[in-house]
Amino acid sequence: MRILVTGGAGFIGSHFVRATLRGQLPGSAGSQVTVLDKLTYSGNLANLAPVAGVDGYRFVHGDTCDPEVVDRAVAGQDVVVHFAAETHVDRSLVAADQFVRTNVLGTQTLLEAALRHRVRRFVHVSTDEVYGSIEHGSWTEQTPLSPNVPYAAAKAGSDVLALAYHRSFGLDVCVTRCTNNYGPYQFPEKVIPLFVTNLLDARRVPLYGDGRNRRDWLHVADHCRGIQLVLQDGRAGEVYHIGGGTELSNIELTGRLLEACGAGWDAVDRVPDRQGHDRRYSLDTTKITRELGYRPQIDFTEGLAATVAWYRENRAWWEPLRERATARQRRPEPTFH
Ligand SMILES: NC(=O)c1ccc[n+]([C@@H]2O[C@H](COP(=O)([O-])OP(=O)(O)OC[C@H]3O[C@@H](n4cnc5c(N)ncnc54)[C@H](O)[C@@H]3O)[C@@H](O)[C@H]2O)c1
Repeated sequence: MRILVTGGAGFIGSHFVRATLRGQLPGSAGSQVTVLDKLTYSGNLANLAPVAGVDGYRFVHGDTCDPEVVDRAVAGQDVVVHFAAETHVDRSLVAADQFVRTNVLGTQTLLEAALRHRVRRFVHVSTDEVYGSIEHGSWTEQTPLSPNVPYAAAKAGSDVLALAYHRSFGLDVCVTRCTNNYGPYQFPEKVIPLFVTNLLDARRVPLYGDGRNRRDWLHVADHCRGIQLVLQDGRAGEVYHIGGGTELSNIELTGRLLEACGAGWDAVDRVPDRQGHDRRYSLDTTKITRELGYRPQIDFTEGLAATVAWYRENRAWWEPLRERATARQRRPEPTFH
């Protein structure tokens, strides 16, 4: 299978590319992968270095909003797995225009090319944040979208566009919505790598508001397995939730990270809450479990320990990125999504 992976130099996309080329995802052996990535501040060719010489891998440096680049990249592909996006909520509060451009226009540009070149399937990777916030219970795939921050609003726009290309033109589209990912190679502006890299350097870590916001945590490898199931056997025009099964408040998560890094609560700065900070996200994952047999395989405690060990052992990967993260961000604060 010839797969175009957009945003394949980012955190989740690069995991998907490495796992696909190594034949670690069900049915992925022998696949050819083209990555289309603009290499923004969060895109990093080092994430793809482990597969750089593998047969069937090709990298295209380009913008998903550029119709000519996209047309050339999509031509000849069997399927598209679309990860490319602006992803950091805090940045969307100060530069929403970039989020609308990449997340909405970039997705529409890809959908148009996918239609023109008759790709067999387009998997659009999205987020639980499109639903807003939920105090009790869990969202199903039928819950109306109600995003609260520009990042989530732009993702919601791209989700409904992708589904509209299915309904209007018959393009074979599936949308996945997942919970908070963690794992190796995550850019150190997101909470787990930010806290871990700070704590490994005996620096302080900032905790938003009362710390009682709750998130479900999903290992990136489980997320990519879920995407692969949808790519292979999802039903066209459907949305699938992918979750990790471990819900924690930010205080609980911070406690786990302090313990894993051998630090105490005196390393934590309480900082004012983020604007529009959603209280709780929770996805009902019954549909993907019943239809596609998805279950998260990585236990959170083990996954977190392995992730912390990875950051401990890969300073050469994250030290240059930390400078990039603070240089580009006007409000250098963490995000808990
Ligand atoms: N990280 C999470 O917890 C999480 C949770 C839910 C959904 N998602 C979704 O998963 C996808 C991947 O997220 P991530 O955490 O890997 O993000 P990331 O920020 O690590 O990677 C994004 C990648 O997209 C590329 N990119 C950005 N703009 C581009 C453009 N205009 N053209 C081409 N490439 C461009 C970047 O260079 C980068 O390589 C996103 O669509 C995101 O909304 C992420």
